[in-house]
Amino acid sequence: MQRFMNKVALITGGNSGIGFATAQRFIAEGAQVLITGRKANAVNEAVAQLGNNAVGLVSDTGKMADISQLAEAVRAHHDHLDVLFINAGVSLGVPITQVSEAQYDTQFDINVKGAYFTIQQLLPLMRDGSVIVLNASATVHRGFPGNSVYAATKAALVALARTLSAELLDRRIRVNAISPGPVTTPLYTKMGIREEHREATLHAYTNMVPVKRFGTPEEIASIATFLASDESSFIVGEEIIAGGGIGTL
Ligand SMILES: NC(=O)c1ccc[n+]([C@@H]2O[C@H](COP(=O)([O-])OP(=O)(O)OC[C@H]3O[C@@H](n4cnc5c(N)ncnc54)[C@H](OP(=O)(O)O)[C@@H]3O)[C@@H](O)[C@H]2O)c1
Repeated sequence: MQRFMNKVALITGGNSGIGFATAQRFIAEGAQVLITGRKANAVNEAVAQLGNNAVGLVSDTGKMADISQLAEAVRAHHDHLDVLFINAGVSLGVPITQVSEAQYDTQFDINVKGAYFTIQQLLPLMRDGSVIVLNASATVHRGFPGNSVYAATKAALVALARTLSAELLDRRIRVNAISPGPVTTPLYTKMGIREEHREATLHAYTNMVPVKRFGTPEEIASIATFLASDESSFIVGEEIIAGGGIGTL
């Protein structure tokens, strides 16, 4: 299928995991893709793998200065966007008794403030009838110990999908969210889980999933691709939970 022929998509945090798998899917279906990331080498390596239909922009979603320059950086390559996948995010698995203010701020700055102002800054580039997809999390629906701050940031995104869809109705811009359960990505190596606790932690996550496995980035990329395409044209301000039964079974 070539659902994204002549379409331009921007994916934040597109150098890794779910964002990278989604960039591959969008390109396979005809899109021109821009990915952002905070590390130049990681962004360049990803673009080298994605090929000629990808452009990399080094931009830190946790920094307002970078976000305010993003639209101009996009304009150097394309004069509009058809799809915006707000995917960049971090998770620091810390119980409430140990969460520091810095850990709280990092997660809210990147996952919520960064998402919010990235949308605000890129809206002028978004065509009427375009699509925004937000990467939330199944932690919104199921209590995962150690995820209180992270789950709160992702709940904010689900609320944002509804509110922005209502605000943007006149421009026919649909905003929807995906809430994945545990997915095998580098996120878990960045969470700061101590090596000796890693296996037990991953085992505990697996056990919380009714189908008893992690999802793959490609399984989530398929949903992002569906929500970004015209095939989901009647889905507005909604959320797809993809968690192997989490939240329902
Ligand atoms: N994996 C899961 O189980 C799971 C479940 C539910 C939801 N999610 C969500 O899915 C999204 C993608 O995560 P993933 O699992 O694919 O993990 P990942 O491989 O670590 O991907 C996260 C991406 O976001 C980027 N990023 C993080 N902070 C950034 C910042 N300040 N500025 C720009 N880019 C930044 C990362 O860049 P670096 O490579 O530089 O870190 C990376 O490209 C996240 O929002 C995550 O919360 C993941």
